[in-house]
Order: sequence, then C-alpha cells, then structure tokens
Amino acid sequence: MAKEITLNFQLSDGTVRTVDAVVGDSVMETAIKNDIDDVAAECGGSLICATCHVYVSSETAALIDEADDSELDMLEGTSAERRDNSRLSCQIIVSEAMEGHTFETPDSQ
Ligand code: FES
Repeated sequence: MAKEITLNFQLSDGTVRTVDAVVGDSVMETAIKNDIDDVAAECGGSLICATCHVYVSSETAALIDEADDSELDMLEGTSAERRDNSRLSCQIIVSEAMEGHTFETPDSQ
C-alpha cells in the first residue's frame, strides 16, 4: 500500500484543511482527491493552465526542485497575485519529508 502523509491546505477564506496525501502523487492530485475547491487544475497537470497555483513555505521550497522554464512561463499567467513563493501544485510531488507541511491557496485561479 502506498505510503501516506498529512498535508494542510490553508484556503483563501482562512480555513485550514488537513488531508491525507499519497507519497508520489502531486500536490494538485492531492487537492483534487480531497475536494480542495481552491485548486481548479483545469488541464489535469499538463502544465498549460496555471489554475493549480499555490503558495509554498520556505520549508517546502527547500524540499523541491526550483520551477523549470515551462512552469515559470505558466506562472506569468496566474489569476491571483504571483508571489516569490508561487508554484504550480501539479509540479510538486508529495514526499515523506513534507509531513505536516502547509500549502496556501490563492483567492482565485
Ligand atoms: S493543473 Fe494545469 S498547470 Fe497545473
């Protein structure tokens, strides 16, 4: 059975949802499986929609690769404010080291 960890989504309305996440899934897939409506993910992870935008903590950023050129291009088109810690959640793969980490969702996608 796949290893699971716990992740938090801090939603745009201020509430925090704690969910189970399968190691190896993307953070976007985790959000969709857990009905996190703030993540739309219209392209299903093909890196052509930017509607899976999230803000990551420095703690999380230290665990993941920097955004590649394709992701950086898509981040130019986010609906909500793009910040230094903006990432596309379909490009972030859940790892065991992320246990308890929090992903903040923007107020629009
Ligand atoms: S789901 Fe479309 S870019 Fe991430």
